[in-house]
Amino acid sequence: MSIRAASRAQGIEPFYVMEIVKEAQRLSEAGRSIVHLSIGEPDFTAPPPVRAAAIKAIEAGLTQYTPALGTDALRAAIAADYARRFRIALEPERIVVTAGASGALLLALAALLERDRTVLMPDPSYPCNRHFAAVFDGHARLLPCGPETRFQPTAEMIESAWTADTAGLLLASPSNPTGTSIEPSMLSAIADGVRRRSGFLIVDEIYQGLTYDHAPSTALALGEDVLVLASFSKYFNMTGWRLGWLVAPRALVPTLEKLAQNLFICPSAVAQHAALACFSAEALTIYEARREEFRRRRDFLVPALRSLGFEIPVVPDGAFYIYAGIGRLAPDSWEFAFDLLREAGVCLVPGRDFGRAQTARYVRISYANRQENLQMAVNRIDQYLRRKGKVAA
Ligand SMILES: Cc1ncc(COP(=O)(O)O)c(C=O)c1O
Repeated sequence: MSIRAASRAQGIEPFYVMEIVKEAQRLSEAGRSIVHLSIGEPDFTAPPPVRAAAIKAIEAGLTQYTPALGTDALRAAIAADYARRFRIALEPERIVVTAGASGALLLALAALLERDRTVLMPDPSYPCNRHFAAVFDGHARLLPCGPETRFQPTAEMIESAWTADTAGLLLASPSNPTGTSIEPSMLSAIADGVRRRSGFLIVDEIYQGLTYDHAPSTALALGEDVLVLASFSKYFNMTGWRLGWLVAPRALVPTLEKLAQNLFICPSAVAQHAALACFSAEALTIYEARREEFRRRRDFLVPALRSLGFEIPVVPDGAFYIYAGIGRLAPDSWEFAFDLLREAGVCLVPGRDFGRAQTARYVRISYANRQENLQMAVNRIDQYLRRKGKVAA
């Protein structure tokens, strides 16, 4: 038998970040102390009420398949949470519970993307998105977005990039890797443009809840035709539980249900039962305290990095990432990140994973790490830059 990976799979790039993470692991096994600013998940785990609900569900034997779209109780709880946070009356029937935002992205693209058609997405953006398009024999077209537009595309940029083979647009707000959100009025103009072109608009709100400078908003306010996805991974601190959701137009739900049945049968039953406790007053108090902690870390790290010579032209307003320019410190972010890791024991993510345009100039710095570790990282970077003669003026 000769086993050969299909060409669509061969074309998918691995996560470049794994190379630096592997190097960090090697150094730490050799006894070096490494501070990780590379992590894409909260350092908090699911809070006690959620863990207790999971144990209760297991002991009660609630461990069998659920409906493909998720339990009625969880779909109703998610809808109620939108009503509480945004005063949006959302029918639970429009909610599809999925295996994380990843499952939601896969389902949405499986339902919407025709072979050989193109999905527009910002550069930089979450690397898996372009690979999801490739899995369905579609293409990603990356729109270079710089600090002047908060690393997010504008309606005009989308309008001029749209061609006959464009099927739709995939955005994230707040974004990974930049932590920047799209203002509601700009998103509304984008949605209008996509509607005029009869395309689809998918908005990834996985970092919903983790916003710091303004009242949070949701693209669901723009109309039923906008697909919005979110997750229990980030604000709710449940990465490994694999649970998220997609809010879709009513007319698309039967197609999504059929796909979900075939592809996944259902999302994790235990995770769904546990997630109901996320919306309890006790859990929400814990989550809000953790959000405040993220804000404090951001407010410490942004000025600290700026004073070290990193360029942070836009202060990120959400998620737990800072997309920082290293142009004053080194010519290439890949080399810079490896050198910093080996010489100073600080691991951050070079821009390469997130796109093509300006990624050699940027690194992603995550503050999903304790304050004392952030302080240690800043001290180490300071000493490293002094050794290199790169002290900021
Ligand atoms: C922008 C974005 N979308 C989707 C995901 C997938 O997350 P999950 O499947 O854990 O919900 C991530 C994970 O980091 C992300 O940053």
